[in-house]
Amino acid sequence: MSTFYMPTKVFDEENAVKNHAGDLKAFGKKALIVSGRHSAMANGSYEDICQALDEAGVDHVLFNEIEENPSVETIMKARDFGISEQVDFVIGVGGGSPMDASKAIALMIEKKDKGAEYLYDPDGDSKTLPVVAVPTTCGTGSEVTGVAVLTIKEKQTKKSMNHKVFPDLALIDGKYLKTASRQVINNTAFDALAHMYESYLNATASGYSRMCVDAGLKMWKKSIDVIRGSKEPDDADRRNMMCASMMAGMAIAHTATTLPHGLSYSVTTKLQVPHGKAVCYFMAGYLAEAKAEDRDYLLTTAGFESLEDFSKVYREACGSIDAGEEELKAVLEGAVEELAGNPKKLALTPFDTDKETLSRIAFYEATH
Ligand SMILES: [Fe+2]
Repeated sequence: MSTFYMPTKVFDEENAVKNHAGDLKAFGKKALIVSGRHSAMANGSYEDICQALDEAGVDHVLFNEIEENPSVETIMKARDFGISEQVDFVIGVGGGSPMDASKAIALMIEKKDKGAEYLYDPDGDSKTLPVVAVPTTCGTGSEVTGVAVLTIKEKQTKKSMNHKVFPDLALIDGKYLKTASRQVINNTAFDALAHMYESYLNATASGYSRMCVDAGLKMWKKSIDVIRGSKEPDDADRRNMMCASMMAGMAIAHTATTLPHGLSYSVTTKLQVPHGKAVCYFMAGYLAEAKAEDRDYLLTTAGFESLEDFSKVYREACGSIDAGEEELKAVLEGAVEELAGNPKKLALTPFDTDKETLSRIAFYEATH
């Protein structure tokens, strides 16, 4: 059996936010805008949202304290603020962190009498306030997935909440990438690529999820020269990269991510490595384990000549991990140990995976 479920209404167009003020109004009288500290102000998305809401006669308040890899504590702080302001819906604007956070906040505002443990309650219902997502990076695809990855500080790890919350509306406009640094573009573009690769090399992949991967990879390839560093991104590239990221999101919404994401979380939390860079540190190793025909398809469709070419482009675009050899080794060993104890994640790989396989993937970059 194969299913395709994508309940988010997507508008991908220039001035998407301003053009859809009426759609925002349909969600209620007051919005909670959720963002990080700076980027939504710098790239013009916050201003566009405020203008659209003002035009539509919708009141709004801002919570701009979402950190990278948002913590459960921050979610609860924003939830308390949203309840006190009596908001009707939540708009997440920014990269994956504010968009993921907006889903968790919308859930917890709806569940006013519940504590933070509800985020990880496997039996609770997932009813939330309406969620609108406005992406300003080109990696997470969070605008079209039900996933919210949160940081659990006491365990020093990241974990998806136990509720699937798809945004009701996603407003996509490539212009918000204009002010993004090259590092942010590269790291997030590699995150999108990882979503497509892990969705394809996945035991739960279907013709539908692979349809999203195929379209997304072809879109991603159109801007490969930007990723290779030989071209400055133009408007068409920014749109390509945003759309590729969205299609990658649609793909993982159906399959979930697999080993590179699973291994990356400790690297991000313990060594403060950006998400896309941490994930793709394990990608060449993951591809090396795949069937040759799948590997060749994934590499060439995205614009790479070979596995070596992929590694070279990744290293040049994202840089090396800033940690001592022993420190990195300890983190990688810890990541292998942790993932080896996660049979659910291991079952998602299309090939047999034991601890030895995980070690080969984890140490591939260090040994090639
Ligand atoms: Fe990711």
